[in-house]
Amino acid sequence: MESLIKAWEGETVIVQYDRPTGAWIFIAIYSTRLGPAAGGTRMKAYPEVRQALLDGMRLAKGMAYKYAVPDMPWGGGKAVIALPHDFAEHSRPGLLHRYGKLIHQLGGLFSTGPDVGTCSEDMDVIAETGAPHVFACTPDAGGSGSSGPYTALGVFTGIQAACEHLFGEDSLSGRKVLVQGTGGVGGPLIDRLLEAGAEVAFNEIDEAAILRCRDELGLRFIRSEDVFETPCDIFAPCALGGLFNETSIPRLKCRIVAGGANNQLAAPEDAERLRARGILYAPDYVINVGGAMAILGMETLAWGSDRAEREVVGSVRQALHQVFELAEREAFSTGLAAGRIAEERLTADR
Ligand code: PHE
Repeated sequence: MESLIKAWEGETVIVQYDRPTGAWIFIAIYSTRLGPAAGGTRMKAYPEVRQALLDGMRLAKGMAYKYAVPDMPWGGGKAVIALPHDFAEHSRPGLLHRYGKLIHQLGGLFSTGPDVGTCSEDMDVIAETGAPHVFACTPDAGGSGSSGPYTALGVFTGIQAACEHLFGEDSLSGRKVLVQGTGGVGGPLIDRLLEAGAEVAFNEIDEAAILRCRDELGLRFIRSEDVFETPCDIFAPCALGGLFNETSIPRLKCRIVAGGANNQLAAPEDAERLRARGILYAPDYVINVGGAMAILGMETLAWGSDRAEREVVGSVRQALHQVFELAEREAFSTGLAAGRIAEERLTADR
């Protein structure tokens, strides 16, 4: 782990070993240049603890870029709680309380919200010790609830923008969309896509969610081993990241990659690999800003939900068109284009 931290260009890593459960808590703060750090709390078991640290560091950078593109006054950070493989669910509240206490002690250096493996109900528990640095609590606890539907709205808008750029029209009617992951973001995204007349197929690993989408919504289920090869107009990854690499990209049969998952590329060069295949890639941190933008706006700027929706739609649409046009003009990847825009903001004199 020493070498990981040494190689990272971020600012700070906070480490806490939770003795009662054996969980490791990492809070990675990439940059506080634009404001105090805020980012989700990811909670899951990892094959090795160092992978949790690496995940946190990469995700923290993604958050910094995410805020930088639409010029939000927040810094990039992420928390990862690496659960032990024998984690008992009844230990969850205790672990979250101890984690909340750490957040509180940081005094605003890092604020958090939900991410993979945590939900608004978990934020309520964390807030019992971590308030006021905890976002997206349930409405019962005075929060604005799940960020997922807002992220999904932004992703939906981004898919329209990508279609407009590539096909000359933003209509999704009859477009084939493959959604990977039907949880907090994928679920509400599917609802919007169906409403817009798209033909939706899905991939999912959770048995109950598969039944719901296949039998109740009547959607076509794509097995995990077939995801990359399935012909479609738009592939929307809304589960875990790291899926695009030198072996998966050559197998793709889609025209557009536009989804809500964080850190979709295994390495930055994969953006160029997608471009070389003629696939239009909507950079993950540009298209998935909706959740963080809406929640932070509603909870720190007193936006109502209508205002939050308008801001998400407007920002994602504008930022993606800017990214697509810059990439086209300079004949380089959309990943590079988005990185340029974010880095310009992160290094500008203030
Ligand atoms: N999971 C969100 C993201 O990756 C994190 C977040 C949610 C941050 C809500 C702030 C508020 O963007």
